[in-house]
Amino acid sequence: MDLGNALEATRANLNAEIESFFNSAPPLKNSVDISERLEKFIKINELASGNGGGRRVVCVTSGGTTVPLEQRCVRYIDNFSSGHRGATSTEYFVKAGYAVIFLYRRGTCQPYCRSLPDDPLLECFELTDESNIKVHELYSEAVKKAITEHRAAVQEGLLLKLHFTTIFEYLQILRMIALSTSNLGQNAMFYLAAAVSDFYVPWQSMAEHKIQSASGPLNMELAQVPKMLSVLRQDWAPKAFFISFKLETDSKILLQKAVSALEKYKMNMVVANELSSRKEEVVVVTSSEKISVRRNKDRGFEDVENPLVQLLVERHSAYIESSDL
Ligand code: PMT
Repeated sequence: MDLGNALEATRANLNAEIESFFNSAPPLKNSVDISERLEKFIKINELASGNGGGRRVVCVTSGGTTVPLEQRCVRYIDNFSSGHRGATSTEYFVKAGYAVIFLYRRGTCQPYCRSLPDDPLLECFELTDESNIKVHELYSEAVKKAITEHRAAVQEGLLLKLHFTTIFEYLQILRMIALSTSNLGQNAMFYLAAAVSDFYVPWQSMAEHKIQSASGPLNMELAQVPKMLSVLRQDWAPKAFFISFKLETDSKILLQKAVSALEKYKMNMVVANELSSRKEEVVVVTSSEKISVRRNKDRGFEDVENPLVQLLVERHSAYIESSDL
């Protein structure tokens, strides 16, 4: 078999795996609602005036996907991600004039809520008498800012929030988003910060009821989640600008893995981060550079997402300009 045929066969295999993943996934309960909200959001931003027609739209994915072990799920495998990266980046993208589709794991960090305490409802408010509640003085500025900025982003059509919990929901919604951005062309960006499961239990081979511990140790074979990055890039949103993330705990292999992901999935940029230092530094890998981006309070960069988003916006502009030539 020559190289061309071998590549064709690999692609056909991957497509068959992806097809079978979607065919066997439990259907989304709210797909009609999601698709209506998406369509409306994209239309508003397509018609909005931006540089060179239409506003730029970025899909930010955030938080970890779960893998249920039972159909009536009691137990599940989780992927680590607090959602801080995605939520913070969303705020900077909105500030830079982008409309953001924030695809997030239910219960993880939300845009504009960073300065609120972890348990905001209980700590932010106090009862003045039996029937009146007011914001505690300590938090009143933070709450006012969060409400104002969040409301402005939503009302101006700059923020659409869609949530997922399982890997099945995440990938189905991601596909819907990608397909809905086709009219945006190069104005669309994907910023894939979610931590996505690599292994899962196929729905049809999953126990329906809670697995019983009386049966002794549990042996379970997990199937591999087909990597969707290549079809996302090549088939679902071929003109968009793509940023994926690479997370490792061993810094010695991090950059090499990021370079491989860049080449294999034809990403425009890969953001490499190491678990323990992810809030201080990331390295942005492109086909010709490795750019270190650091949090630097002295330069007004309170968090690493601020300079990171600035860099990505610049590169996205260059990408759009070069496609116009
Ligand atoms: O949320 P925080 O606590 O702030 O942390 C942020 C973060 C560390 C989670 C984030 O910066 C990050 O690195 N996210 C990606 C983590 C990850 O899943 O890395 P990975 O090496 O497993 O996957 C690499 C890429 O492939 C990801 O962009 C992912 O979207 C994609 N993927 C992964 C698995 C899979 N089956 N299909 C995919 O498409």
